[in-house]
Amino acid sequence: MTPTQSPDTTPNHLSAPSRALSFDRAAAQYAAARPGYPDALLDAVEDLTGRPLRGARTLDVGAGTGISTRRLHDRGARIVAVEPGPGMAAELRRALPDVPLVRGDGNRLPFASASADLITYAQSWHWTDPARSAAEARRILRPGGALALWWNVADHTVPWVADQDARLRRFFRVEARVDDRSAHGSAVQDRDLPPDLDFTHRRIPWTRRVRLATHIDNLGSHSAFLTIGDDAARQFLAEERARLASDFPDGTVEEAYVVELSVAVR
Ligand SMILES: C[S@@+](CC[C@H](N)C(=O)[O-])C[C@H]1O[C@@H](n2cnc3c(N)ncnc32)[C@H](O)[C@@H]1O
Repeated sequence: MTPTQSPDTTPNHLSAPSRALSFDRAAAQYAAARPGYPDALLDAVEDLTGRPLRGARTLDVGAGTGISTRRLHDRGARIVAVEPGPGMAAELRRALPDVPLVRGDGNRLPFASASADLITYAQSWHWTDPARSAAEARRILRPGGALALWWNVADHTVPWVADQDARLRRFFRVEARVDDRSAHGSAVQDRDLPPDLDFTHRRIPWTRRVRLATHIDNLGSHSAFLTIGDDAARQFLAEERARLASDFPDGTVEEAYVVELSVAVR
């Protein structure tokens, strides 16, 4: 699970710029512990864009260590990864040496106009300035091309996930959302979707079972933990690990997510 929608989804332009690139200091941990995306997500992208991924000229922006890039590449997309952070980019290069990588920023993309069929942002749109990144997407997509944004959000209908989310909210002093559209931790309304693009939304639930150590590393790879201070982060994560070890004595947890997907065709 992601700890909640909040620790990684404070828009970059509203927070310290360093937070957007905080992942670099934990890039290997990120690559090893963060969840991937289910096949059903890639199917939904094809469905909502109205074209197969195979052969689609695709920019995966905020590609990080390549978790989203790999999924798109495996489906046959002609993909270029775009990533501003040096540590994350180095991991991507190591994991996907054959995939072209551009060190760039969604707010000013170094690509020609009308040159892409698909632009994807997997858990990364909120780190851009949405007015600028939307203008760039509009410029670079060919007519009929699509912008696809998605996030793995913790599924708060699962009791242990909701309990953990409450602990995270207390720790980070995040107010409970009063405008949740459902019991899920939906936060798409926070993410500054460009108002002049017509988005279709889909929610895709999925789970993965992982060792407790991986789950704790996953939590610790979120920007909130990477920027709150090492001692505070270490203490929370140690307490969380002890609590979950007692709740799940077999040493594994089933993380539960909903992928929130938003697609707009230009
Ligand atoms: C949560 S990670 C997502 C990585 C990957 N897409 C995935 O699914 O795991 C967010 C990424 O966005 C990148 N990022 C931060 N600011 C950005 C910007 N202005 N434009 C593009 N990417 C940015 C960060 O360096 C980081 O690698």
